[in-house]
Amino acid sequence: MPHVQNGWYLAAWSDEVGRTLTQRWIAGNPVCFYRLGDGTPVALEDRCPHRKFPLSLGRLDGDVLECNYHGYRFDATGSCVGVAEQQDKPRAATRRFRLLERDGIVWIWPGDPDRADESQLPDTSWLTDPNWTHVKGVLPLKARHLLLVENLLDLSHETFLHPSTIGNAAVAATPIEVTTSGPRVFFQRRMIGVQAPPFYEKSMGLTGLVDRWQDGEFHPPGVFLLNIRLAATGTEEPEGFHMKVLYGMTPSTENECHDFYALARDYAVDDAELTAFQHQQQLSVMGEDVDALEVQELMYATERRRTVESSIRSDLAALRGRRVLQKMLAAEAAEENSGAVPAGR
Ligand code: FES
Ligand SMILES: [Fe+2]
Repeated sequence: MPHVQNGWYLAAWSDEVGRTLTQRWIAGNPVCFYRLGDGTPVALEDRCPHRKFPLSLGRLDGDVLECNYHGYRFDATGSCVGVAEQQDKPRAATRRFRLLERDGIVWIWPGDPDRADESQLPDTSWLTDPNWTHVKGVLPLKARHLLLVENLLDLSHETFLHPSTIGNAAVAATPIEVTTSGPRVFFQRRMIGVQAPPFYEKSMGLTGLVDRWQDGEFHPPGVFLLNIRLAATGTEEPEGFHMKVLYGMTPSTENECHDFYALARDYAVDDAELTAFQHQQQLSVMGEDVDALEVQELMYATERRRTVESSIRSDLAALRGRRVLQKMLAAEAAEENSGAVPAGR
């Protein structure tokens, strides 16, 4: 299955991109990342236009990238500026991808750079807000992008997959409300007067019944944001404890993803022990998801006779998300078939 190209994906955390050339596959594209001397992040297609050698295996000479196979040299726009072997420079260029760096994230728009629209990204200012603290990272996932999207848009799985951390019976038992705004999908789940799952009991010191609110946002094709609020039950608008989880769901190749995460809280921001505990819990939750999605991938990939899936009410947001992605893919396929390939492709 191809991947949507005209949309934002989380390409890297800012501190992952430096003066060393690094390769990362993004939505089916090999991409070479580095920073210019002035700190600007650059992403070039990681295929030398000469004989396709990965440019990320080359070297930086100042801001000029030199291919390590026959020495073609490229500037930051991707244009070839010379080659050691001959005086006149070859007519060649590699594609430069549109990047946007904000709040410690390097976002990439693999498709037509002229269509890159910053307003499609959610607010991530809490990543740099001193009133919040967060942990972050990225895990490799050997499962297709859609499985990760559906995993996050249907959190009823917390009850079954994550019972020792963030899940309990209340999650699956509480229906969600789903709304859309353009291509974006939102869901909310209000769990009123329920037991707090172990992770929240431990990290918030809550005993007794709580109100727990989950507000999910899918910003297609690759961003998911979860707003979490918990408070002693009876609080109309829980002001107690706020957390946010950001997922960069970035397909790498057809059946693999980069699973970027950031987990933030706005209370006890200086408590390093709590931060370490939450990070360890986040990784254990994600490990359970990775295991589930990878065996699920195997089942989808090996199914010889495609059967109709059964769905229930809690799938509603995930089904909307799936439809949005299908629509975006169909629109891009139609454009390519009509010959209207976006500039820079
Ligand atoms: S493949 Fe890069 S210079 Fe030949
Ligand atoms: Fe999960």
